[in-house]
Amino acid sequence: MTIRDINYLPKQYQKAQKLKINHSYLTEQFSDYSKIFKEIEKIVRKGDYTLGGEVNKFEKNLQHRMGAKHAIGVGNGTDALYLTLKALNIGKGDEVITTPFTFIATVASIATAGATPVFVDVKEDYNIDEDKIESAITKKTKAIMPVHWAGLPCELKKIRKIANKNNLKIIQDSCHAIDSKYYGRNIVEYGDVCTFSMHPLKNLNIWGDGGFILTQKSYLAKKLYLIRNHGLRNRNNCEVFAYNSRLDTIQAAVANYKIKNKLTNITKKRIKNALRLDHLLSNNKNIKILKRNKSIKTVFHLYQINVKKRNKLLKYLISKNIDAKVHYPKPIHLQKAARHLRYQIGDFPVAERLAKTTLSLPVHEFIKEKDLLLMSTYIKKFYLKK
Ligand SMILES: Cc1ncc(COP(=O)(O)O)c(C=O)c1O
Repeated sequence: MTIRDINYLPKQYQKAQKLKINHSYLTEQFSDYSKIFKEIEKIVRKGDYTLGGEVNKFEKNLQHRMGAKHAIGVGNGTDALYLTLKALNIGKGDEVITTPFTFIATVASIATAGATPVFVDVKEDYNIDEDKIESAITKKTKAIMPVHWAGLPCELKKIRKIANKNNLKIIQDSCHAIDSKYYGRNIVEYGDVCTFSMHPLKNLNIWGDGGFILTQKSYLAKKLYLIRNHGLRNRNNCEVFAYNSRLDTIQAAVANYKIKNKLTNITKKRIKNALRLDHLLSNNKNIKILKRNKSIKTVFHLYQINVKKRNKLLKYLISKNIDAKVHYPKPIHLQKAARHLRYQIGDFPVAERLAKTTLSLPVHEFIKEKDLLLMSTYIKKFYLKK
């Protein structure tokens, strides 16, 4: 392996471009980029390159859309988590409860803040098992970090009760969950903060990295505005040594365009396509589909089913030009990076089982009825052959 290979650009992205039904769809999604260029031109003419009007507008847009009192634009979704931990003074000697079935950044933010991640298994819906949280709480626990996996909000009422009883903060990793609702209410109402990513593959996506934090708590918002920008109160006065994790102004313009013109349709189409696939794939003993709760608005950042012979089906679908994926084949407690936490195979049986059976199918806004029919037909055909 050369040092260049470590700075990897996943080869699978290049390969996926050649498939007929793709998971990512950036070229189509940004085909009308000229309108965004116009917005960027305004920034260039003004020379308004850091924070500024566009980031202000972005934060107001998100406050309004997600029912939050405060929104803070930051460099990416990982920074959103890390800065939140810093703002809450969570670090060395502290424990944060989360799940091993997530993207690596959830857990890495806890570890890089100096705290210890403590895992609790997930349920069949991939979300943290709220009934197992209390037994993981120790004197060192400072926060619970639930992940609204695939855009399905966790059981926030119960999690809030546990947090209140034990005096813990709730940091909601909401990177998959823009536009989601929990029993008709905004998810931000249930915790200290919600953190989001706008990575190009997220539902609200931009032309690079970006993220934001939502909170109802003014004291936290104040701290977060400071620590994303060197701890500066103004040009000459620094209140705390901190970081530079400002949301890039040009990316804020991309996001503002998307929020105004596209996001509602993106959310609607993902939900529509997912529920249609639920129907098309129902009544097959080889496929397990989650029961949907109509009171919880799930935004299907990922559409996942659990299937028998997963790896063979994955290969088969790719051979048919369908960009099926696995999110993710190895839970975090079994990653090399987590060795020092001393977990073992068998510690989180549900997460470990789901990692072997889960399969993601594309449901983005450019997926058409004919694509859904094709995917479901091939999947059913695969099991008939066996
Ligand atoms: C659940 C989850 N948390 C955190 C992140 C980190 O976001 P980013 O890639 O913007 O740092 C991601 C996304 O990649 C994610 O999926």
